[in-house]
Amino acid sequence: MSRIRSSQEWEVRASTLARKTTNPIRQIVEHLQVEPNPEKELIALSIGDPTTFGNLNPPDQLLQAVRESIELHKSRGYAPSKGHYEARVAVAKYSAHQGEVSPEDVILTSGCSHAIEMVITAIADCGQNILIPRPGFSIYQTLSEGFGIKTKYYNLLPNEHWKIDLDDLESQIDDDTVAIVINNPSNPCGSVYDKEHLYEILEIASRNKVPIIADEIYEHFVFAGRQFTPISSISKDVPVLTCSGLTKRFLVPGWRMGWVVIHDRNDVLGKEIRLALSNLSMRILGPSALIQTALPAILECTPQSFFDEVLLFIETQAKLAYKELRVAPGLRPIEPQGAMYMMIEIKMALFPEFKDECQFVESLVAEQSVFCLPGQCFEYPNYMRIVLTVPEDKLREACQRITIFCKEHVIGEKRKEIETNDIVNNVEVICDDITNVL
Ligand SMILES: Cc1ncc(COP(=O)(O)O)c(C=O)c1O
Repeated sequence: MSRIRSSQEWEVRASTLARKTTNPIRQIVEHLQVEPNPEKELIALSIGDPTTFGNLNPPDQLLQAVRESIELHKSRGYAPSKGHYEARVAVAKYSAHQGEVSPEDVILTSGCSHAIEMVITAIADCGQNILIPRPGFSIYQTLSEGFGIKTKYYNLLPNEHWKIDLDDLESQIDDDTVAIVINNPSNPCGSVYDKEHLYEILEIASRNKVPIIADEIYEHFVFAGRQFTPISSISKDVPVLTCSGLTKRFLVPGWRMGWVVIHDRNDVLGKEIRLALSNLSMRILGPSALIQTALPAILECTPQSFFDEVLLFIETQAKLAYKELRVAPGLRPIEPQGAMYMMIEIKMALFPEFKDECQFVESLVAEQSVFCLPGQCFEYPNYMRIVLTVPEDKLREACQRITIFCKEHVIGEKRKEIETNDIVNNVEVICDDITNVL
């Protein structure tokens, strides 16, 4: 006789994992009262998707690779859950700047987020913790919380190009710490760490025997004068699990192609962690075979000139936004060194009518129809983040509107100073005009 359930009523409940999985950006943004000014077109400087405005497009070689992949029988079937061998060979070759990489060290994933989820859940259990940057991208928290994996923040230093506060980092490590997440180049900061700083981080990881998860999705997004060093390339003993993918550099976030590269020179992780990653890859049987089949051609045929052009565009945008916003009263933009974002400090004391930066951002939308992400999305109040991939005219217009907004809302003393400066500037312009005429 079959057993009868005690309850005869429908009672379908959400799982703990589902209930505890949250996305702070979505939560904060959904709670904002963002009604744009109907007289001005909305300019969203908030979306980290470089395809949003249609001004940045991948080269035809990339599209052609996928077109050809459609014709292949292979691209319709299941791939091995870690990915097609040829695709992993291509990623290993592409990732050679990270240190020696064999195809066995590569696992293909559905975007970089999936790579991050895979590495976190391969080494962390409920109750253990990972260290993550503040300010930082919220995905690490989103991916961990539901599993009961704790996230502990270490601070970045805004006045030192967002370097890691090393004392703070080390003080956060405890017996339950299983990984340090490093995001370089950084979202939201746009910082790029030099080799010396990476050595300092590795020293702490080595001393405390904590592996590193390197989120390097913005690898190579580095402005002139800076150099990108993958942390794995200089690690002697610390195992590094690098997460990256096509998403940003190839301008195809929707294709959802990412990967994990395992760097473990001293065989610290052993077979166990490789097996763990392999087991976890079976949960979704690997990412899209269509893109996997195209991957070798994508990685080999994309011309360097494409990367150079995109980077030059973003760097020019960074300079433009920095120059424009430096003169906005009450703001302090922090010049980025790479990635595609800029953080801007809002000197809240000069805007006492706003309780916090969320209110500042709300009013900015209501009056000027410019939307920036409040710092709270990155656990960093009193700041806002802008995205640099929007078209030049829109970025310029947005920065000018932000400046007008600041001039209108900054407190009395500061405003008097601005008005005096404006008069002085006007007088100077008139004098210049007269001189020119004479
Ligand atoms: C720092 C960082 N890591 C990971 C991701 C996720 O990348 P993907 O879209 O490939 O999952 C993003 C996306 O914005 C990001 O900014």
